Amino acid sequence: MMFSTVMRPALLAAARSPRVERTVTGMASTRKVVRRFVAGESEAHAAHATAALLESGRYASIDYLGEDTTDLEQARATVAHYLTLLESLAELPGAAGEVRPLEVSLKLSALGQSLPRDGQAIALEHAQKICAAAAAAGVWVTVDAEDHTTTDSTLAVVRALRADFPWVGTVLQAYLLRTEGDCRDLSGPGSRIRLCKGAYREPAGVAYQHRDEIDASYLRCLDILMRGQGYPMVATHDPLMLEAAFGYVRSARRDPDRFEFQMLYGIRDEEQRRLVATCAHLRTYVPYGDQWYGYFMRRLAERPANLAFFLRSFGPG
Ligand code: FDA
Repeated sequence: MMFSTVMRPALLAAARSPRVERTVTGMASTRKVVRRFVAGESEAHAAHATAALLESGRYASIDYLGEDTTDLEQARATVAHYLTLLESLAELPGAAGEVRPLEVSLKLSALGQSLPRDGQAIALEHAQKICAAAAAAGVWVTVDAEDHTTTDSTLAVVRALRADFPWVGTVLQAYLLRTEGDCRDLSGPGSRIRLCKGAYREPAGVAYQHRDEIDASYLRCLDILMRGQGYPMVATHDPLMLEAAFGYVRSARRDPDRFEFQMLYGIRDEEQRRLVATCAHLRTYVPYGDQWYGYFMRRLAERPANLAFFLRSFGPG
């Protein structure tokens, strides 16, 4: 209780504080812990981690870390990283059927969405470049969900991208009050929706605040997506959500090629392998790059055990 009412909001606020960022990223012991959740700093590290996941029967979605870019040059540099990444991914084993084993995940705020003038148009142009390179490499693209102030803009960019690249997917966050409606609108033929609970600090006017409400919303949204005509991507580590997903799959008579599970790199590795052994598609989200701070802090905010693991790194050894 203390964790969700005190620690989680404090960690999520710290995730957006440049001052705390300087302190946390400056600590030598932090880097060791970060490596549990982040595959490394370079495209070579990301490709290496991805090859190991493919080897174990898992699929991968690779994310070049970065967000809240306020500088056009930085947004262009992010595009360049994705293009280099896609060149490395093109050398890994490709698609056998309709489901592509490799995907990249993009945050539009890293591509310029929040630039003061024409941010949305700039992010769209940058995402189009990445999608064209992904198409050539046989790799899917999914656009991540960020805080609620960006949701309309993100969905508009995704709609525009899908006009040229109909396989582009996006993420919906069950904690937002609007998401059940979005699931209904976006569960048509060809859609690819990753459903997650949501990782940002959101006000009560737009988001459920309590765990039970968020879980109930997740289940309603999952039911809609599973009964829909798209390709649901069930992004959660929660055993209750996973069990419910199998139930919805059975009642909607979905075959295993028409949905997938997704989990984060470094989290519930054994469970990831177990799901693969049940013949389900399991995709691991693999973040890499040196701007890991926001991503890392959101992982600490999710679970007391993650925070404890971080705090233990200050101990002896
Ligand atoms: P939650 O944190 O609610 O925990 C529920 C239960 O799951 C726990 O009680 C425990 O039993 C189990 N569990 C959770 N973590 C565990 C661990 N480390 N070890 C063992 N058991 C554990 N968010 C966002 O806002 N935008 C986005 O684009 C994305 N993208 C994304 C992609 C993918 C592939 C994933 C998996 C998640 C995201 N997220 C995200 C993050 C998401 O919104 C959410 O914050 C986390 O997944 C945590 O929620 P869970 O549903 O996993 O379980």
